[in-house]
Amino acid sequence: MKKNATLFFCQNCGYESAKWMGQCPACREWNTFAEEPKAPSVKGRSMREGERREPVALGEIRSDDQQRLQTGMAELDQVLGGGIVPGSLVLVGGDPGIGKSTLLLQVCRSLSGRLDRILYISGEESLQQIRLRAARIGEFSSSLKLLCETNLADIETTVLKMKPQVMVVDSIQTMYQESISSAPGSVSQIREATGVLMRLAKQQNIAVFIVGHVTKDGTVAGPRVLEHMVDTVLYFEGDRHASYRILRGVKNRFGSTNEIGVFEMTDRGLEEVANPSEYMLSGRPEGASGSVVVCMMEGTRPMLLEVQALVCKTNFGLPRRTAAGMDYNRLNLLMAVLEKRLGLPLSGYDAYVNIAGGVRLSEPAMDLGLVLAVISSYRDIPVPERTIVFGEVGLSGEVRAVSMAQQRVQEAKKLGFTRVILPQSCLAQIKNCSGIKLVGVSAVKDAMAAL
Ligand code: TYD
Ligand code: MG
Repeated sequence: MKKNATLFFCQNCGYESAKWMGQCPACREWNTFAEEPKAPSVKGRSMREGERREPVALGEIRSDDQQRLQTGMAELDQVLGGGIVPGSLVLVGGDPGIGKSTLLLQVCRSLSGRLDRILYISGEESLQQIRLRAARIGEFSSSLKLLCETNLADIETTVLKMKPQVMVVDSIQTMYQESISSAPGSVSQIREATGVLMRLAKQQNIAVFIVGHVTKDGTVAGPRVLEHMVDTVLYFEGDRHASYRILRGVKNRFGSTNEIGVFEMTDRGLEEVANPSEYMLSGRPEGASGSVVVCMMEGTRPMLLEVQALVCKTNFGLPRRTAAGMDYNRLNLLMAVLEKRLGLPLSGYDAYVNIAGGVRLSEPAMDLGLVLAVISSYRDIPVPERTIVFGEVGLSGEVRAVSMAQQRVQEAKKLGFTRVILPQSCLAQIKNCSGIKLVGVSAVKDAMAAL
């Protein structure tokens, strides 16, 4: 009997199986299996003569050749952990149209002033289209070379000949290997393409940026395998309707994943936003009820944001609640706490909560700000000017400590705030707070009194 020449792959996680299955045993997704031809097996890969390597001690490894390349975009360098590591493979994921190609073209532009061989491979746009985009971004030096190609074998030949120092592949889903008969974007093609690029990166010491499209549920389309193979995974996110974009590190073998970079899409490409708090707070109404400034931590970076609440009497039996930019259940929970612990009759009121700027907040430290925004709107008293609020609220109405209180206070001070309402238990952590008044609260009731 002829042996099966095809296998079934889970399109979500890359699990392979000899037969079709309704549910993937690895990632538990339903209906994700698709039939793909088996990749040809590679023979004689195990151990080549004369290439056996000796184990070495950590101290004997030279590390001075790990020179990082500064991209010239400080926000990106920060997310990468201090610059591009030669020989590393960086995956940049994000929704279509978010600005991945623009960002990488700008990186190429800024590097092309200092490096002499940069290659931008596009499988999606024609040279004319790239030129149009480039014309908006600015002048390019001739060390940047463009290539429209999707065939991996040809790409490999070109790369070996040109030996670029930095290379961009836009996007991995369009690349294909002729020896595999499944369509570009399928699990086996993506896996193979990433494998080829990884080999090139490591052997030739090329820093490779790979663009990956994201599916509706927020993961890079195709297999998770891609994320395991690369050194660094960056996600480019942001609201399509707002002009700012956040670049977030999800995995980084050469740095921390706690960093974010903030950019703004302008008519001349992406611009760095060095002071995100100021940017997010611009246009905030002064003296309006229901508006509270909170401090969120994005990794190690504090960011001030405005929480807005609108509470009004419900016309139906069931109050309406909507939460934009935060968890809906958390809003319901906090409103239940207010109802029970402060006796506010909120079950007869609709509540609409919004985080200005289209940011998503998931940190518990914003609870207190949210609670005060709801109270402020319910009573129609504005929160005093120049005040920021942070703290976690527990089910008995207590205000609990949050991490990095010092950084949050510092950020508020930097932006000219004069009063901070914070958990009582955080007070001890804060040093050097001249010029800013700290109001420690231990329960929601105290916080309400502080309004
Ligand atoms: P793009 O980089 O093509 O997105 P991706 O590669 O992630 O799919 O981004 C294109 C969007 O950015 C498009 O909607 C137009 C906008 N844009 C600007 O607003 N200003 C610019 O200078 C450029 C180049 C693009
Ligand atoms: Mg693109």
